[in-house]
Amino acid sequence: MKMPVEKCHVDEYPVLRTEDLGEGWFRLDIEAPEIARATRAGQFVQVRIGPEDDPLIRRPFSVYDVGPEPGENATEVRLLIQKVGPGTRAISQLDSGDSIRLMGPLGNPMPVPEINSEGALFLVGGGIGVAPLYLYCRERKSENSNLPLKVLLGARRESLLIGQQGFIDLGVDTGLATDDGSAGHHGNVIELLDQELSCLPEGADIAGIGCGPHGMNVALRDTALEKKLKFWISLENYMPCGFGACFGCVIAGPEDGPLRYRRVCVEGPCFSVDELPSQF
Ligand SMILES: Cc1cc2nc3c(=O)[nH]c(=O)nc-3n(C[C@H](O)[C@H](O)[C@H](O)COP(=O)(O)OP(=O)(O)OC[C@H]3O[C@@H](n4cnc5c(N)ncnc54)[C@H](O)[C@@H]3O)c2cc1C
Ligand code: FES
Repeated sequence: MKMPVEKCHVDEYPVLRTEDLGEGWFRLDIEAPEIARATRAGQFVQVRIGPEDDPLIRRPFSVYDVGPEPGENATEVRLLIQKVGPGTRAISQLDSGDSIRLMGPLGNPMPVPEINSEGALFLVGGGIGVAPLYLYCRERKSENSNLPLKVLLGARRESLLIGQQGFIDLGVDTGLATDDGSAGHHGNVIELLDQELSCLPEGADIAGIGCGPHGMNVALRDTALEKKLKFWISLENYMPCGFGACFGCVIAGPEDGPLRYRRVCVEGPCFSVDELPSQF
């Protein structure tokens, strides 16, 4: 599925509030009703950093949440951002009342598979990969879905587990894993997933969506393929344009398919594990 381009808006929008979450993370809430109404979990916005040409290239960010609630009444786009370089540092300097140039929503929404109540739909997030998973849960809650969601979050240490309280407040079953054992399972989030899988009854419906650093995505893909599980992975490749024009974000097409390349920004960012090339 490709999102129709006419649903994409580009404009200057006012920053409503910012919140420093520590460890280089911050939240940015923006009044952008057209984008908020049109966004579905898994889609992203491109942010133009400043009025000048430096940095020239827009930066992509998943929509973490829309407020006050997902759907037709949404007016706010909320982002969860980690400061890693000049673009994210410049965005972190913004304050309420400043304006920011957004383009979005871009990319396709995450899939919503059918799962019976015996089974589980795992949402596996590593580091900043947590961002699109929260809106996914908010959407399911706002439509009173009875999908059996299980969120699994991994990070190097507890202080880097950002956003877990949001899932807990939504009443979503949330498991944690940290490399140093400071919270939840002592080890990585794929080991935690393995443990959770072994607790499910035989024949249970199982599916999942993952979003995290490259190493986690590869391990998740390998686990899902080995256990024949229906998983999707949301990729965060560099995206110079975000709307299909530059081919700066491509992954190889399926070996037996007609496409040599697929653009992560247009054909993704979420791909079924069996559609991912061996190197991605
Ligand atoms: C679809 C999509 C959704 C994203 N969602 C979020 C989000 O919700 N929150 C968030 O904080 N970040 C998100 N990112 C990553 C974010 O776009 C980058 O961190 C940002 O562009 C970095 O810009 P910069 O100028 O601060 O740093 P740069 O100078 O561009 O990069 C600084 C460092 O970060 C690394 N880096 C930059 N971009 C990426 C990337 N895409 N993947 C892996 N490493 C990268 C670089 O290798 C470098 O080491 C997303 C990326 C994509 C493609
Ligand atoms: S970022 Fe330009 S084609 Fe995907």
